[in-house]
Amino acid sequence: MSVLSSAREGANRVLRPLGVQVVRGHSDDPAIQPFLPARQTLAAARRAGTSVEDYIDRYSAAPGATAGTVDAILREADLGGHVERVCEIGPGSGRYAARVIAATHPDTYEIYETAGDWLPRLRALPNVLVRPADGRTLSATASGSVDLVHAHKVFVYVPLVVTIGYLDEMARVVRPGGIVAFDVVNENCLDDAMTKNWVSSGATLYGMISRSWLLERLAQRGLTLLGSHFVPLSGGRTELLVFRRI
Ligand SMILES: C[S@@+](CC[C@H](N)C(=O)[O-])C[C@H]1O[C@@H](n2cnc3c(N)ncnc32)[C@H](O)[C@@H]1O
Repeated sequence: MSVLSSAREGANRVLRPLGVQVVRGHSDDPAIQPFLPARQTLAAARRAGTSVEDYIDRYSAAPGATAGTVDAILREADLGGHVERVCEIGPGSGRYAARVIAATHPDTYEIYETAGDWLPRLRALPNVLVRPADGRTLSATASGSVDLVHAHKVFVYVPLVVTIGYLDEMARVVRPGGIVAFDVVNENCLDDAMTKNWVSSGATLYGMISRSWLLERLAQRGLTLLGSHFVPLSGGRTELLVFRRI
C-alpha cells in the first residue's frame, strides 16, 4: 500500500462517523470538504438491498434520521400553499432533497454541491437546478427569492469562515416569511458522552459554533428562531435550528 493510500485509509477511519470519506480527485480548496464517493456508496446500498437514504442513515448509526429531520423542519416551517423555490447546500446523496421535494413539490429545487460525482443522481430528482458551487456562496440565487434554504451535516465540518459566509448567504436569499434550516454542533450538543466519544475516536473533523453568537448574528439579519431539535450525528448529536425571515 502506498504512503498516500495508507494516509487516506487513516483519515477515513477518523471521518467514518460523519459519513465522509477522502477519495482521489477532490478539490484542495479548504472550503470544499469530501463526501462519500457516489459510485461505491450506491453499489453498497444496492448490495445491502436498501435505499441510499436508509443506507446512509444506518452507516451513520442513525436509522430514521433523515425522515425525522425533514419532518421536524416542515412542522416548524408550516410552509402551507405553493412552494416555489427551495435551495439546499451540500445535498450529497440527495436524501433530504428527495423527501423535501416529495413533501412540498417546489417549482425549482436549487442545489449547490461541490462533489461532482453525486450530481447525476441529484439531477434526476424532480425540478432540480444544479447551481455552480464555488464552495462559499449562493451567487446564482437572487436575493429574497427562496421559500426554504437548508443544509445538513455541512456546517459541522466545513471551516468556520465558510459556515459564516453561507449563513449570510442564506439570510440574503430567503424571502420574507421564508425558512432557513441547518444543523450545527454547539454547546448544547457537547455533553460528556459526546466529547468522550470524540476524544476516544479522534474525531478531529468537527467544529463547534456558539449558539448564542449564531442566534444574535442571524437575528441581526432578520431571522427569528422558530424551533430546534437534536438530530443524530453518530457518536453524538447536532442541533437542527429552524428560522423564519421576518
Ligand atoms: C457530510 S456531507 C452531508 C451530505 C448530505 N447533506 C447528507 O447529510 O447526507 C457534506 C456535503 O457537503 C458537500 N460540501 C462540502 N463542502 C462544501 C462547500 N464548501 N459547499 C457546498 N457543499 C459542500 C459535500 O460534498 C457533501 O455532499
